[in-house]
Amino acid sequence: MSDKKRVLSAIQPTGEIHFGNYFGAVQNWVRLQEEYDCIYGVVDYHAMTMPYSPKKLRENTWGLILNLVALGVKPENLFIQSLVPQHAELNWIFNCFCSYGRLQLMTQFKDKSQQAKEKSEDNFISAGLFDYPVLQAADILIYKADFVPVGKDQDQHLELTRMIANRFNNQVGKEYFVLPETMHSEAPKIRSLADPMRKMSKSAGEKHYVSVFEEEKRLRKKVMSAVTDSGDLIGTDEMSEGVDNLFTIIKACGHTEAYDQCMAAYKDGSIRYGDFKTAAFEALHSLTSKFIENKAEVMANKKEIKNQIKQSSAEIRKIAQQTIKDVKELAGLMNVRF
Ligand code: TRP
Repeated sequence: MSDKKRVLSAIQPTGEIHFGNYFGAVQNWVRLQEEYDCIYGVVDYHAMTMPYSPKKLRENTWGLILNLVALGVKPENLFIQSLVPQHAELNWIFNCFCSYGRLQLMTQFKDKSQQAKEKSEDNFISAGLFDYPVLQAADILIYKADFVPVGKDQDQHLELTRMIANRFNNQVGKEYFVLPETMHSEAPKIRSLADPMRKMSKSAGEKHYVSVFEEEKRLRKKVMSAVTDSGDLIGTDEMSEGVDNLFTIIKACGHTEAYDQCMAAYKDGSIRYGDFKTAAFEALHSLTSKFIENKAEVMANKKEIKNQIKQSSAEIRKIAQQTIKDVKELAGLMNVRF
C-alpha cells in the first residue's frame, strides 16, 4: 500500500466535455494524479436519477471514459460506478444513517427536481434524485477518501457525507470512517463565448460551449465571433465580461506571454479585438489539437482501453468489497463467506 493520501472524485456521464468542464475539473484531476492515490468514477447510477435513455446512458458512459483518457486521466485510476455495485449496497446502509430532514435541505435537489419535472412528460421526480447525495456519500466513503476535489456547489453534499460518517462511527462505537475534506482548486470560471453573461454550458446549446475536441474551423468561428464590447472600456481598469472571459481563457491555456502582451495592450489602449481573439484562438487550438490527436490514438485502441477499464474497475472493487465487509460486520448485518 502506498502512503499517499487518497483523492476521490466523480463525474456524471452526460455527453461531451467542454472547456468549462476541463478547466473546472478534469485538468485538476490529471494534475492530482502525480501526487495522490487517485480514484475517479464515471457515475452512471447517479445519471439515472433524472429522466434518461438507457441506450444513451451506456453510450455516454463509455464515451466519457474514452474522452477522459484522451485528456490525460490514467485508465488505472478510472472506474465505472455500476461495475462496483457495492456503491449501491452502501447507499442503502447509509440511508439508515442519514436524516430525512437533512436531505430535504439539499439545494441541488430543489434545482434538479424542478428540471426533472420540466423534462419528463408526467411531472416525474424519482426518489433516486432525492437520495442522490447519500449515494455520493457512499462513493466517497467506500474508498475512505481523504480529499474530494469538487466545485463549491458540492459543499453541502460533502457536509452531509461527513455527517453520515460521523453518525455511523458513533453508532457502531468505532472511528471507522475518515472524515473526507473538500479540495477546492482555483479553477478558472469559463463563460459562454456567445453570451458571456452566462457560464459555458451544454444545456444552453451548441454556440454556448467549446468542446475540448472542437474541430479547427469551428473553433476559429466560435472564438472569432465571441461577444466582446464596443471598446469603450479599453484603457481603463474596467473590463466587460466578454473581454475578461477571453483573458481568462488565454491564461488558463498557459499562453502567459500572449496574456501579458494583450493585457498591456488593453491597458495602454492599443489593443485590437481581432488580434486579441486570434490569441485566444491560438491558445485554445494548442490544446484542442493535442486532445484531438490523443483522441484518435484512444479510438484506435478502443477495445484495449475498454478492457483496461473493466480491469481497473475490478481492482477498485476490491477496496469497495473490503469496506462493505467491515461495514456489514459493524452494522450487525450478515456477511456471506465466499
Ligand atoms: N454530484 C457530483 C456533481 O454533480 C458528482 C458526484 C457523484 C461526485 N459522486 C461523487 C463528486 C463523489 C465527487 C465525489 O458534480
